[in-house]
Amino acid sequence: MSEAAIIDGKAFAEGLRGRVAEFASQFEARAGRKAGLAVVLVGEDPASQVYVRNKGKQTVACGMNSFEHKLAADTGEADLLALVEKLNADPAVDGILVQLPLPSHMNEQKVIATINPDKDVDGFHVVNVGRLATGLPGFVPCTPLGCVMLLKDRLGSLSGLDAVVIGRSNIVGKPMAQLLTAESCTVTVAHSRTKDLPEVVRRADIVVAAVGRPEMVKGDWIKPGATVIDVGINRVPAAEEGKTKLVGDVDFVSASQVAGAITPVPGGVGPMTIAVLLRNTLVAAHRNAGIVLDENAI
Ligand code: GUN
Repeated sequence: MSEAAIIDGKAFAEGLRGRVAEFASQFEARAGRKAGLAVVLVGEDPASQVYVRNKGKQTVACGMNSFEHKLAADTGEADLLALVEKLNADPAVDGILVQLPLPSHMNEQKVIATINPDKDVDGFHVVNVGRLATGLPGFVPCTPLGCVMLLKDRLGSLSGLDAVVIGRSNIVGKPMAQLLTAESCTVTVAHSRTKDLPEVVRRADIVVAAVGRPEMVKGDWIKPGATVIDVGINRVPAAEEGKTKLVGDVDFVSASQVAGAITPVPGGVGPMTIAVLLRNTLVAAHRNAGIVLDENAI
């Protein structure tokens, strides 16, 4: 068996950001304002700070406005809800993202429920979850939407393919299963209680691993020629003493001997998430301004 093709998410995300920038400039000319994304960060979690900084930089690089709101870790929930209400009412704000996780004294579901669903570019509000489940236009969580874009770019039509999604989170596994169903895949959602997981995975033409367990999916679980999408980002000790490295949920070395195509970690799914967030923000801006956009063109 030959080595799997590498699915280059970094390059795809760059292309997507390029298309977003083009359409963002057309939006500005037509609407007389830039599209805008508000990002709210509560507290000082270092990983969240890095994400928020990258989101802000990439938003501006695509020709959109970035509004960053940084609140102290001990901010009261009522103050956060008041900020979200203010952003809901602000016509310069097309998309609102409240960075998760929130400090433990806040109720995440309550905060998400306060975001106007038509500005919920994360696709986490139950209205958007319901829209996805029923096939109505809404917003789809960025990471699974990015995975489907990579799959369609690689495979063309996904119709009739057997897909196994490992993981059932609200952010990745569940919406991923909905999206693959909408693409006419036959979808199995596997998880930590699934019986004989390797055998289930071996049936799949498409494997999406989103469990958060370093290198759990082995090469001998993969059907020869299958397409493997690795959503995992796990930091583990490296061979060199005191150093760490990033690995996915898939054992890349063995899986790439069997798969037809596979996403690497890093450089696979990771870069897609922010690029899709920018895409969702641009879509929100057009919908909010009543300007028609061919959403399949970006
Ligand atoms: N924290 C980690 N990933 C995400 C994301 O996609 N959206 C939000 N709001 N918080 C996150």
